[in-house]
Amino acid sequence: MLGLRNLLPLLALSLGQGASAFVYNTFDGEGSPSCHNVTEVHNATSVDEIASLVKDAKERGLRVRAAAQGHHWYDAQCSDEETMIIRTEFVNGIEQFELEDGAESGSVVIEAGTTFLELSSWLHERNANIGTGLVNWNISLGGCVAMGAHRTSLRESAVVVGGVLALDIIDGNGEIRHIEKNEDDDEWLAASTSLGLLGIIARLKLSVYPETKVWAKQQILDEDDVFNGNLTDLIAPYETANLWWWPYKKKFHHRYYDSVPANTSDQEGFQNTFSVTDLEAGAAKALLDSGKVLPSSNWLAEEIFFGQWEKPNFRDKRTNEPIDEFPVYGWNYDVLIGGLYEGQKPVWEHGLRGYTLELAFPMTRANEMLKRVRELFDAEAKKGKIMAATYRSGVNIKFGKSHYDFLGQVTTGTADGEDWSQGAIMFDFPSYRPSWGDQKRYNEEFYIKLANTLIDEFTCRPHWTKNTRDVLKRASKHVDPEYLARFKVIKDDFDPEGIYRNVIGEILGLYE
Ligand SMILES: Cc1cc2nc3c(=O)[nH]c(=O)nc-3n(C[C@H](O)[C@H](O)[C@H](O)COP(=O)(O)OP(=O)(O)OC[C@H]3O[C@@H](n4cnc5c(N)ncnc54)[C@H](O)[C@@H]3O)c2cc1C
Ligand SMILES: *[C@@H]1O[C@H](CO)[C@@H](O)[C@H](O)[C@H]1NC(C)=O
Ligand SMILES: *[C@@H]1O[C@H](CO)[C@@H](O)[C@H](O)[C@H]1NC(C)=O
Ligand SMILES: *[C@@H]1O[C@H](CO)[C@@H](O)[C@H](O)[C@H]1NC(C)=O
Ligand SMILES: *[C@@H]1O[C@H](CO)[C@@H](O)[C@H](O)[C@H]1NC(C)=O
Ligand SMILES: *[C@@H]1O[C@H](CO)[C@@H](O)[C@H](O)[C@H]1NC(C)=O
Repeated sequence: MLGLRNLLPLLALSLGQGASAFVYNTFDGEGSPSCHNVTEVHNATSVDEIASLVKDAKERGLRVRAAAQGHHWYDAQCSDEETMIIRTEFVNGIEQFELEDGAESGSVVIEAGTTFLELSSWLHERNANIGTGLVNWNISLGGCVAMGAHRTSLRESAVVVGGVLALDIIDGNGEIRHIEKNEDDDEWLAASTSLGLLGIIARLKLSVYPETKVWAKQQILDEDDVFNGNLTDLIAPYETANLWWWPYKKKFHHRYYDSVPANTSDQEGFQNTFSVTDLEAGAAKALLDSGKVLPSSNWLAEEIFFGQWEKPNFRDKRTNEPIDEFPVYGWNYDVLIGGLYEGQKPVWEHGLRGYTLELAFPMTRANEMLKRVRELFDAEAKKGKIMAATYRSGVNIKFGKSHYDFLGQVTTGTADGEDWSQGAIMFDFPSYRPSWGDQKRYNEEFYIKLANTLIDEFTCRPHWTKNTRDVLKRASKHVDPEYLARFKVIKDDFDPEGIYRNVIGEILGLYE
């Protein structure tokens, strides 16, 4: 018979197995799961260590997902089965920098977890930048390339992968595979937007350019100017440009940027992307929390946010003094991205959380799509439910030049009958997540109806980290079946046992 002394460790072991799985969160922290069934988290410190962790996970029958800065919105990072998380934050070497004097471009090799902030400051010291493929300061390039992230441009490449020349991916056997950019190669077309399903992107070779200054300008447009205007003409002339929609005020801000020689201005503008003072955060939180039941709070919030967005959200980097007027000039990265002002924290660290939805539509249907959204807003108003934007920069309308690959949001040549070659318009609708009760928004059904209507009435493509599982499921019908089949062939070769599987891959039917 087993004595108590023998039984205890056994009990602990069997309890331990079930109880040891935990929830892993997004950047929004507690209450914002990105994975539901994580059994271990490793802070890898080298590419070799990532590879050996992958081999270990494979042997032990665990699934594996990379994790970088957690800058995504919903629980679609992992599958719901036991998963090992490998964090890439400390695998962030930068090497092999080449940019000849007078050359138009050069290259650099970075490791998986390198962030835009780290890379840009490193390059700026060497009088270089990565051009326009910038998304956000504290996000990894590996995580962005994996998930098809992009900024906003019709003239220049908008996807982060647009600047990638080669990738090293650690496959499902823990072996490193090198893939060069080549649009005739299905391996490249799959790796270009891989959703992390081929493996962990360990290294990226990127194009670099001589450092420039950039100006930023902004104007206000009425809805009619946008709905009935030529959106290509509004966006395509610039290096990067977008619209921020204020649906309660029925206005847009049009923000546009372009590069100029470094000696054009001595201003050093730095954009505040997400930081707020304690006081601002407290006031915004109280107002928006009441907006869960009182729509007038949301109207007021939109008025305030609109007013704040009107003025340049820039300071001079050297003096920390606010810049009051457009155009603003500054170094490429500081103007296009910027970051936090001294002594301030990003909104999410103040406990302001969000929901979002992002869908991409062909430019040829841009006006039609925006008008349809206006109709849906108006239909609510008729029912006495007047909706507003509850995010500090309104509804973000972005644009993407087409980029050919299998699973990207802006790919071309699909069999859906749409012309994606003129690029895409993205409807990116962030909203405040009330911190109390069921955390649902005022008139929650509207948000769901809006998403469903757009997905059912238009050929559109989801952003892979900015949509709920429900939206991803509903939108998956628009993914080109032939591209998906070709992606699967590469995925099966890289990861035959499916250790990198996640819910997006499952929704796409890649594991059936
Ligand atoms: C505030 C905010 C603003 C944003 N703005 C934009 C925007 O303007 N445009 C846009 O397109 N997106 C935007 N995003 C989305 C963001 O770019 C993506 O979610 C990106 O994948 C996050 O990268 P990360 O480094 O934080 O990775 P994580 O969030 O940690 O990981 C994201 C996914 O990528 C996988 N992954 C991470 N690293 C690797 C790797 N090395 N190899 C393979 N897979 C990997 C993870 O397993 C996970 O599935 C924004 C997100 C937030 C929160
Ligand atoms: C990994 O690094 C993060 C800091 O980014 C730290 O908070 C965490 O405790 C570390 N985890 C382990 C297991 O060392
Ligand atoms: C975690 O995954 C295991 C299989 O890997 C499964 O048996 C278990 O039910 C899952 N737990 C949760 C909380 O999903
Ligand atoms: C970047 O994100 C990490 C992880 O969330 C955090 O620890 C760090 O403070 C952030 N850095 C900046 C400059 O915001
Ligand atoms: C917008 O203008 C461009 C020329 O600048 C033209 O090629 C395009 O067809 C116009 N688009 C629409 C929708 O009218
Ligand atoms: C900027 O530098 C270029 C040479 O690189 C020169 O031709 C130009 O005149 C300079 N412009 C100003 C405003 O100094």
